[in-house]
Amino acid sequence: MSDRKPLISGNWKMNLNHFEALKLVQELSYQVSVDDVEEVDVSLHPPFTDIRTVQTVLEADRLPFHLGAQHCHHEDSGAFTGEVSPAMLAKLNISYVLAGHSERREIFGESDALINLKVKAILKYEMTPILCCGETLEERDAGQAEAKVSGQIVAGLDGLTSEQVTNMVVAYEPIWAIGTGITASAEDAQGMCAVVRSTIAETFGADAAAGIRIQYGGSVKPNNAKELMSQPDIDGALVGGACLEADSFARIIQYRLAE
Ligand code: PGA
Repeated sequence: MSDRKPLISGNWKMNLNHFEALKLVQELSYQVSVDDVEEVDVSLHPPFTDIRTVQTVLEADRLPFHLGAQHCHHEDSGAFTGEVSPAMLAKLNISYVLAGHSERREIFGESDALINLKVKAILKYEMTPILCCGETLEERDAGQAEAKVSGQIVAGLDGLTSEQVTNMVVAYEPIWAIGTGITASAEDAQGMCAVVRSTIAETFGADAAAGIRIQYGGSVKPNNAKELMSQPDIDGALVGGACLEADSFARIIQYRLAE
């Protein structure tokens, strides 16, 4: 067992308005105890329109969840219609920001170079980036999964110090497992998370590799979280569909109690 505290993150994607957000956070708070979060960090990543509402309830009720965002621009401010800056997120006491989710890469054309700028901008405002990586099914079938993922890691972390990398989070999410109900086997997920860790060891040294937290994402559910989380190189989960219901997200947070 490592001493890395697991991080379970809920990526709400483009779901729930701010009224629904409030309801979900309140329901979650009834189901997750302070004891649960002594063992596991939890972050919630609502859409931008919900963040202020969620921040208010987390702070007023002292709920033990970290606030997160799904995306940001890399500049502090300026003529970037529709975008939100890391400075704005930091003002809302955001702790974690996703960078380079595969939907941002595939649907919105974000490149490794752009994602690297975002990672640096998130760090500049003392928030923690969750750098996402993962291969398509075609790349996996062609034996290119490891090269794709390690390339994304090296490019996404380019120019960072070992200390910065030590305190970061990477989410390994095979694209074929996202939203499909098909989860990578625990062995495959472990194997790829080990590739991420050894890539970091080669580039940033042993301390960075030992410190960084690596999440698995892709159809994580209450019935598979425990097995995934028991793998030595998996330090958490990035959860999409199953985080939209308080009951299923709470059971993932409490994965230790599963049969
Ligand atoms: P999923 O999404 O759990 O619905 O597969 C995971 C993600 O995209 O972060």
